[in-house]
Amino acid sequence: FLSGVEVLSNEIEELVSTLPREKLWDGLYSYQYQGFSVPSTVFHSMIFFQRHFQARDTDVILVSIPKSGTTWLKALIFTIVNRSRYSLAESPFLTSNPHELVPFLDKDYMKNQSSIDQDLSSPRILATHVPYASLPHSTVSCNCRIVYICRNPLDQLISFWHFMLALNQEKTEFFPIEKAFEMACQGVLFYGPFWEHTLGYWKASLEESNKILFLKYEDLKEDINFHVKKLAEFLGFPFSVEEERQGVIEEISKFCSFDNLKNMEVNKSGKLPVGHQNSIYFRTGKVGDSINYLTSSMSERLEKLVEDKLSGSGLTF
Ligand code: A3P
Repeated sequence: FLSGVEVLSNEIEELVSTLPREKLWDGLYSYQYQGFSVPSTVFHSMIFFQRHFQARDTDVILVSIPKSGTTWLKALIFTIVNRSRYSLAESPFLTSNPHELVPFLDKDYMKNQSSIDQDLSSPRILATHVPYASLPHSTVSCNCRIVYICRNPLDQLISFWHFMLALNQEKTEFFPIEKAFEMACQGVLFYGPFWEHTLGYWKASLEESNKILFLKYEDLKEDINFHVKKLAEFLGFPFSVEEERQGVIEEISKFCSFDNLKNMEVNKSGKLPVGHQNSIYFRTGKVGDSINYLTSSMSERLEKLVEDKLSGSGLTF
């Protein structure tokens, strides 16, 4: 007899063979599925997550397109909601990268289903890159909270491109920026099209502002303390007057800042269980870095495309 996972594998092998795909490197593809682009490395596990994951009312689900500030938000959310459990001096982030403490459901749920299902933390803090329309049903129907983080699409693209290069250093083939750029414009870069991903959560956040908090990387960079306070209120863990007076908001902002996390020994020399260096999640952490990599005509083309796609929605970058 075949196990549930084996049955799923056979079915998915067949499905995969019918899907349009874009090649990044040999063995690494972006598949077109349900109107978005799924990395070949998570295809099976993402479908398992879509079909089997049961969200709880108390869950906090962080959603992003890769390279939009996921690592930052994992650290912020975990630190805010667990602040009475761990002081900053004994924070688990001193010894673990944010991706070890907050699982990425698209990949990790299939592998660690029982530990995630049996996790009694309230809230569980979990993350995914799946678009709103493709989320598991329970995530949308229950009262869990969703935090969505997005970023200027030009900077997101450049961050993605560097991340891919860092992950695939052993490949002799080069992944040119022109190719990544074309894929972004075609909407076939991982979890794209960018505009559909952001619009899906943008519209849902307008309809259900108590359930979905829509954030932009650039706004957090501009005023992190304001956003830490807002996040805490949204998550149901508001700061007391006393905490505000003691400067707890500022301490958390500083603790989760790019420079502080990047310079922790665990993030300078540690590795994730999958083998990635933790350091690849901390590159420059700046707004506007795309200007150093895209020509002005490339920037204008992608900006115009995104502007057209978002027009009338009230969302701009
Ligand atoms: P850059 O490549 O532009 O530096 P993700 O966490 O979604 O993978 O996104 C990674 C991007 O967020 C990288 O951008 C990374 O440097 C930046 N980043 C990581 N931690 C951050 C933090 N604490 N504050 C701000 N940016 C951070």
